[in-house]
Amino acid sequence: MSDAMTKTDAPQDETKRDFIFIATGAVAAAGAASLAWPLIAQMGKAADTLAAGSIEIDLSRIDEGQQVKMLWRGKPVFVRHRTPAEIAEAESTNLADCPDPAEDSSRLIPKADGSVDPRFLVMIGVCTHFGCIPLGEAGDFNGWYCPCHGSHYDTSGRVRKGPAPKNMEIPNYTYISDTVIKVG
Ligand code: FES
Repeated sequence: MSDAMTKTDAPQDETKRDFIFIATGAVAAAGAASLAWPLIAQMGKAADTLAAGSIEIDLSRIDEGQQVKMLWRGKPVFVRHRTPAEIAEAESTNLADCPDPAEDSSRLIPKADGSVDPRFLVMIGVCTHFGCIPLGEAGDFNGWYCPCHGSHYDTSGRVRKGPAPKNMEIPNYTYISDTVIKVG
């Protein structure tokens, strides 16, 4: 187990219950069966090694309202298929209420044609305070909640309340087709 995962994973057994680790692009792209697993594996050495490179994620296999969590370079990646209400909430937020102001659109990486798909939010699932893994569909802003010290994130993954200083990080990813992204 890497130091990074030890740090991020250790404080909350609760987050492990709904954790889906998909170690490689091949497995992630394999699809529905992967997403259906309630728990693929706890972080292990083999998965750690496999997760070192890039991962491909088929967004078409993630249902609306569903979040999948994968492991990439020792860190959890959250991919959430947001509901229309979550998107509307993210887009209408007054940035003056955000400790780390960022338009929702700035947190979405465009496709090759320049369009963005606001349904899919891809983030490094690590709290920017001390590195715990926030819980999804939780907190005062219907986004994520970090139980370690009480940081609340909204449906764009922006910190809204609590000690976390920054929004959850957006990893480097690209659309390699209309529905498949490559992280890393
Ligand atoms: S690590 Fe998340 S609030 Fe402290």
